[in-house]
Formats: sequence, C-alpha cells, structure tokens
Amino acid sequence: MLGKFTSVNYVYGKEGTALASSALSDINLTIDDHVFLALVGETGSGKSTLVQHLNGLLLPTSGTVQVSHYLLKTEKKKKYYIDLDKEQGKHPKRKQFKVKDLRKFAGLVFQFPEYQLFEETVLKDVMFGPLNFGMEEKKAEAIAKAALKLVGIGESYYSRSPFELSGGEKRRVAIAGIIALEPKVLVLDEPTAGLDPKGEKEMMELFDKIYQSGKSIILVSHNMDLVLKYAHEVCVMNKGKLLKVSSPLEIFQDEEFLSSTAIEPPLVFKTALELKKAGLDLNLDNIKDIPSLAEEIRKAKKND
Ligand SMILES: Nc1ncnc2c1ncn2[C@@H]1O[C@H](COP(=O)(O)OP(=O)(O)O)[C@@H](O)[C@H]1O
Ligand SMILES: [Mg+2]
Repeated sequence: MLGKFTSVNYVYGKEGTALASSALSDINLTIDDHVFLALVGETGSGKSTLVQHLNGLLLPTSGTVQVSHYLLKTEKKKKYYIDLDKEQGKHPKRKQFKVKDLRKFAGLVFQFPEYQLFEETVLKDVMFGPLNFGMEEKKAEAIAKAALKLVGIGESYYSRSPFELSGGEKRRVAIAGIIALEPKVLVLDEPTAGLDPKGEKEMMELFDKIYQSGKSIILVSHNMDLVLKYAHEVCVMNKGKLLKVSSPLEIFQDEEFLSSTAIEPPLVFKTALELKKAGLDLNLDNIKDIPSLAEEIRKAKKND
C-alpha cells in the first residue's frame, strides 16, 4: 500500500470562526503501490488540498493520512509526524520523522509553479533539492542537468532567472526540481496547464516513462483525454467529498453517474460508445486515443 486517507477532514482558517471553510470532508481512500492515479473534479472540489496532504504540506484537521510508513495527524491542535516503522518504547520522540523525508518520498509539483521556484538561476533552482539532501555539488549538478533535459529545458536556460520564464517553462523547471529528488511518488497538480499540445504530450509521455520505471504517479487533471490514455484509476471529487474511485473505463461508461457531475468523457470514448451501440463489436478496454480506436474498428471489421 502506498497511502491511506482515513476519515480525513480539512478546514482552512481557524475552526469555529467565520473564516473557517471546509475543503475536505470525510475522505477515505486507499492508494495501492505502483499506481497511475488521476484526481478529477470541478474547480474548488478539494483536489489541490487533498494532494498537499500526500507530502505533509498540509496535515488533516481530523482523521489520519498515511503515506508509506509515514503517518500524519493533528490532535488537540498539535501536529504529529509518526514513523510507523520506529519503535516507540520509552522515547516517543523517536517515532517522529522529519517532514523532509516525506517530501523526498512523495514529490509534489504545485498547481502554481511560481510558488515553487526561488533561486536566481534555473540550474541552481533544480540543484537546490539534491543539495538540501546532502548531495555533493558536482553530483547535484549532473542530476539537475539530466532532470532539465528530461523536461525539455536546454542548456541556454541554465543561467536564466526562473522568474523570467513563461508559465509553461516555469512548470517544466518546477517538475525538473522534483524529478531531481528521485521521489517514489510523483504528485502533479495540473502539470500540463499552460503547455501547448505538443508540450503536453511530451510531458505526459515523460510521466508515463517514470511510471513504467516503477514509480507512482498521482495526477490532478481536467483533461479527460489524458485521464483516459494514461490513468489506471480515477478519483472523482465534488465539493470536498470523494464521490467515486474507479477505472477510467467504468467512469466514462457510467452515464447516470456522469450526469450528476460536470465530467464529459473524451470525444474518442463517446465515439467508441456510439459505434458499439450501433453494433460494432469494439473492446472498450482498448480505447485510449484515436489510433487505438482505429485499430479496434479494423479488428471489428475483420471479424465481421
Ligand atoms: N489557502 C486557502 N485558504 C482558504 N480557502 C482555501 C485555500 N485554498 C483553497 N481554499 C478553498 O478550499 C476549497 C478547495 O480548494 P482546492 O483544494 O484548491 O480545490 P481544487 O484544487 O479542486 O480546485 C475551495 O473552496 C477553495 O476556495
Ligand atoms: Mg487545484
């Protein structure tokens, strides 16, 4: 198991005051090992709030969040960071872990990457994480350069200020900074917002490659084409609640459920559904994009 949310509530602002607003209510979710999970739902439904619990940026107001052997909770206004692998014995403090360790385990790329960048140059920014974890300068530089290459940021950017970059470039640099930490889980909050279609495709192919290498991907996205193509599991959120956890196939086929949400299945999937209704024997499991739909149609015709 990668993680578990148990009866998680999250309230922004001081509880009991006029400013208090509930962003998550009674979230229960188990995340398996090695997932490619998508989190979808309307703006304001709590997606960003939920993912910020995965690396300890936010702690639940009540309930518990477990990520690997790290457990987070708040009790009587005190925050607890508990390492479940450590014995408590006579020294309860030994059980507390440093949140830095969790940040390395679950790397979070913020929705607004400008909040994540702060060094004077792009290269320094990406090197910051590895250096902060005690890596030697030369090695950190090599890792940072490799990470920048992966996200398509070339050498000419190394000495530029991250703040001069376009939104899409800032996002790439922020992603490189997290990749350089080599996290076991990459948590991405709307990572392709602001990228053109080519950039979006390259970025998603990169995440898929990272997934294929054995790591987990947790992705917040409004783009159902990407969800269909890459995700294996989808969490649907609405008004701070987790409505459904299912495969993309099940969700996009469930018309009754969809009518209660603002989710529109991808056009390619709707086309496949219509063709199936019209009598073409398509295996919907295989429909991921236009080429796979074409292939399914070819197979169905051949078997006719
Ligand atoms: N820093 C904050 N302070 C107060 N309320 C917030 C803050 N961030 C988000 N919220 C509120 O919490 C709810 C969930 O927001 P968010 O998790 O950002 O949703 P999503 O990512 O799905 O758009 C919204 O009602 C939003 O207005
Ligand atoms: Mg958000």
